[in-house]
Amino acid sequence: MKEIKKITCIGAGYVGGPTMSVIAQKNPDVEVTVVDLNHARIAAWNDEDLDKLPVYEPGLDAVVGEARGRNLFFSTEVDRAIDEADMIFISVNTPTKTYGKGKGQAADLKFIELCARQIAAVAKNDKIVVEKSTLPVRTAEALKNILENTGNGVNFHILSNPEFLAEGTAVTDLHNPDRVLIGGEDAEAIEALVNVYAAWVPRERILTTNLWSSELSKLVANAFLAQRVSSINAISELCEVTGANVDEVARAIGQDSRIGGKFLKASVGFGGSCFQKDILNLVYIARTYNLHEVADYWEQVIIMNDHQKTRFAEKIIQTMYNTVNGKHIAFLGWAFKKDTNDTRESAAIYVADHLLDEEAQVVVYDPKVSAEQIYRDLDYLGTRSPEDNRRLLKVVDNAYEALDGAHAAAILTEWDEFKGYDWAKVKEGMKKPSFVFDGRKLLDRKELNRLGFAYYAIGE
Ligand code: UDX
Ligand code: ADP
Repeated sequence: MKEIKKITCIGAGYVGGPTMSVIAQKNPDVEVTVVDLNHARIAAWNDEDLDKLPVYEPGLDAVVGEARGRNLFFSTEVDRAIDEADMIFISVNTPTKTYGKGKGQAADLKFIELCARQIAAVAKNDKIVVEKSTLPVRTAEALKNILENTGNGVNFHILSNPEFLAEGTAVTDLHNPDRVLIGGEDAEAIEALVNVYAAWVPRERILTTNLWSSELSKLVANAFLAQRVSSINAISELCEVTGANVDEVARAIGQDSRIGGKFLKASVGFGGSCFQKDILNLVYIARTYNLHEVADYWEQVIIMNDHQKTRFAEKIIQTMYNTVNGKHIAFLGWAFKKDTNDTRESAAIYVADHLLDEEAQVVVYDPKVSAEQIYRDLDYLGTRSPEDNRRLLKVVDNAYEALDGAHAAAILTEWDEFKGYDWAKVKEGMKKPSFVFDGRKLLDRKELNRLGFAYYAIGE
């Protein structure tokens, strides 16, 4: 079997960047090149200052610092990197379609197809092509078709190797994965990729399956995880009306080893680039095969999640005497979870949108998200003009500034630093009564009540 000497990854985003950094770190004899069309992104990956990497992940700076320049390279020379590689990972984005058939549900595969055509056009010798991006089931077939029919007669072996890392813990997830999944048809190609991972992952945790099982498993894993969040969020609403406490319920059921304690944290709703997109994809695939009950079943997970975001915004309005018009509401957090600068599908975007519709004055502080990104997220919704978004919502780089003079604080992301604030001091600067709406169940109710806050937390 051919030894892998050079790996190229197309796409230097949240998946490609960290994954290739760890592959390079653990395989010092393999040259790993990550390419992207986005020049600014590649420049940031190459920045001397490791604080400026385009993806914020705890521990990533150390990994990049160790491997970059040794056997890890970031470049915009896509064709050259394709030509030289033995193995090519495709890690480009596959957003939900915003047009045409399957709009709002199906995955948009145009970036994947462009990659396949480029690989076919450039490749002069045999290549192993690895699907890393989350893809609808049977994409490998389309990929194979394009490669075989437009290529220069070279052999392509397609593998599916979905990524299971979670943002915010990407480096530890990559260093110590529960499993690595590799789907494919050609035993030698599979073995070549197994060897890359076997540099640091125990063999028994490297699972090999057929292509379709691997592709489908990725969607199913995310659907099951998201379903748990929607399940506990559904119960949170019931807790609020019955006097039960959702954390206590989660602990009680999580102790049952058949249920397990993870992913039972009630929240303002899940976000991130994967959960919603992958479930919509699953729903779309099921409908394509006329499996309407299956589609409806999984769609409910999304419906529940949308409800949770709306419900939180409505709770704020209703508690503040049914109007937030002109009221200053401080948002703590904008990212979809802590320890990431990613805001894709973050609940904060939708809660803000709802409150801005009611003419609230929102002031946002997030330790890692830039003002440009926040306005981009809001403008992308197209609910109101960019001028109105900037008139109604301000972004500051200090939490105390966001909270000063506020009628209410809303916690949208569970950043650790929010717990350590001097809440007594915060209270002095806020309007009275001082409301806190905790969408992450982060703060200590007893303490906040003692300080005189009117405190609401999900599911209590
Ligand atoms: C997810 C999967 O975990 C990962 O395996 C896959 O590769 C990509 O999608 P990610 O989206 O990065 O990872 O983060 P995750 O930790 O799964 O959280 C997703 C969302 O669910 C976040 O908004 C988070 O705040 C929310 N969540 C998670 C809850 O509200 N409650 C929980 O108990 C867990
Ligand atoms: P993910 O979370 O899946 O990693 P990102 O959007 O963070 O998604 O990253 C995907 C990257 O892929 C982007 O930086 C984008 O510029 C890049 N990309 C998309 N299509 C191509 C292509 N044909 N060639 C090179 N890079 C591409």
